[in-house]
Formats: sequence, C-alpha cells, structure tokens
Amino acid sequence: MKIIMLGAPGAGKGTQAKRIAEKYAVPHISTGDIFRANIKAGTELGKEAKSYMDKGQLVPDTVTIGMLMDRIAKEDCAGGYVLDGFPRTLAQAASLTEALEKRGDKIDYAIDVDVPDENIVNRMGGRRACLNCGATYHLEFIPTKVEGICDSCGNEIVIREDDKPETVKKRLEVYHAQTQPLIEYYGGQGVLKSVDGTADMDKVFAAIVHILGE
Ligand code: AP5
Ligand code: MG
Repeated sequence: MKIIMLGAPGAGKGTQAKRIAEKYAVPHISTGDIFRANIKAGTELGKEAKSYMDKGQLVPDTVTIGMLMDRIAKEDCAGGYVLDGFPRTLAQAASLTEALEKRGDKIDYAIDVDVPDENIVNRMGGRRACLNCGATYHLEFIPTKVEGICDSCGNEIVIREDDKPETVKKRLEVYHAQTQPLIEYYGGQGVLKSVDGTADMDKVFAAIVHILGE
C-alpha cells in the first residue's frame, strides 16, 4: 500500500502517518524528519536544508526529489510506504508519478488531512518534538509522562526551530501557494481522500482506517 499524506503544516500528517505505519506495517517516511536528522548529525545536506527550513521555505526540489527517490528505492519499501511531507510541489509529485509509472506502479491513496489555518497556529505553539527519535507531543493534547522527557527514548523534548509564530505563518503561505495544488492533482488521479483533521486524533485515525480498510 502506497500512501501520501497531504495537509498544511501542523495538520497532523506526522501523527497519523506513524499510526498508519504501525497498523499496516509499512515504513513511515517523513522528508522533514530526514532533514532534521541530517541537521542534528551536521551533514552538508542538513546545513543546506536548515537554511531554508528556519525561514519556513521549502528545501529546493533538486535536493529533495533525489533524496526521497533514494529512500523509496530501499528494500523495506517494496511492500509500500506512507509518505509524510512529500510531495510538496507539483514538480515533486510529477517526479514521483513518473518514477512509479516506470515500474507500472502508482500511489494508492493521497489522504488530505484538512485543518483550517486558524487551528494550526494553536497546535504548533503546543507542539514539542524529540530530535533524537522523531516522536512528537503536544503540551495539552499528548503530554509526555515525565515533563520535558521523550516517552520513547528518554531524550529531552524541544520546541522545533520552525514552530515560532512568524515562521508558522510563512509555512502556511508556502503551503497554500505550492502544496495545496496537489489536492487537485491527486483528485485528477482518482486517489484523493479527505478527512476532517480538526477532530480528535483517534477520530481522525478511525476515518483513515475506514478509507484504507481494516
Ligand atoms: P515537515 O517536518 O514536513 O513539517 P510540516 O509539513 O510543516 O508539518 P509538521 O511536521 O509541522 O506538521 P504535521 O502535519 O506532521 O503535524 P503533527 O502530526 O506534528 O517539514 C518541515 C520543513 O522541512 C518544511 O517547512 C520544509 O522547509 C522542509 N521540507 C520537508 N519536506 C519537504 C519537501 N518535500 N520539499 C521541500 N521542503 C521540505 O501535529 C502538529 C501538532 O498538533 C502536534 O503537536 C500534534 O500533537 C498535534 N495534533 C495532531 N493531530 C491533532 C488533533 N487531531 N487534534 C489536536 N492536536 C493534534
Ligand atoms: Mg510532521
């Protein structure tokens, strides 16, 4: 099963993608997490990505497309995957379609997690992330068991650099200009499904399971 998660920054793509990956036993591939892991490790890719991410801009397609294609060519992706944060531009979507078509393959579902901009800013303010294992929390909605400490790996949890209100605003602008057109693109391919992302997380997941099947 090959799934794409669409939705604004903070819509809950990562939250839902993790649960999908567990239930359907496919890898969860987040381009944002890959960039953050590279930033943490101090790689050249990380340095380049950080200069864009901190401003709320997209990392150029020339960097992102190759990176994602290498990742999905790995053996663990043979049975499918859930992509979180890719594609984000029409050029990325076209590259993915083309790469899959070459193998006579296609995306099965593009799930749009729909949340209005007003709700997004609140959510991002409360989000805390573990830069070690990628787990995300929310001060109010998903608190950690011990304050400030990741439940899964015990590292410290932090506010993401790009979750500052000004940067969130910029990310929303970029989303509307560059990523929202993908809703129409995947609608045209007949694989688009939309879920109400303002509901609580379990309800959102139940709606997704209803689409993907038990
Ligand atoms: P990325 O890491 O993908 O960030 P994003 O798309 O901006 O999305 P987020 O991770 O902020 O939100 P999410 O939808 O995953 O929400 P989450 O589940 O955490 O990308 C970061 C940057 O990397 C980009 O800005 C760009 O620079 C670069 N980049 C990445 N991919 C790229 C690409 N393909 N091309 C170019 N550049 C790229 O939830 C948010 C919060 O809300 C959490 O605290 C969560 O606990 C809470 N929450 C979730 N669901 C609910 C709910 N139902 N009710 C209440 N709270 C909820
Ligand atoms: Mg995310």
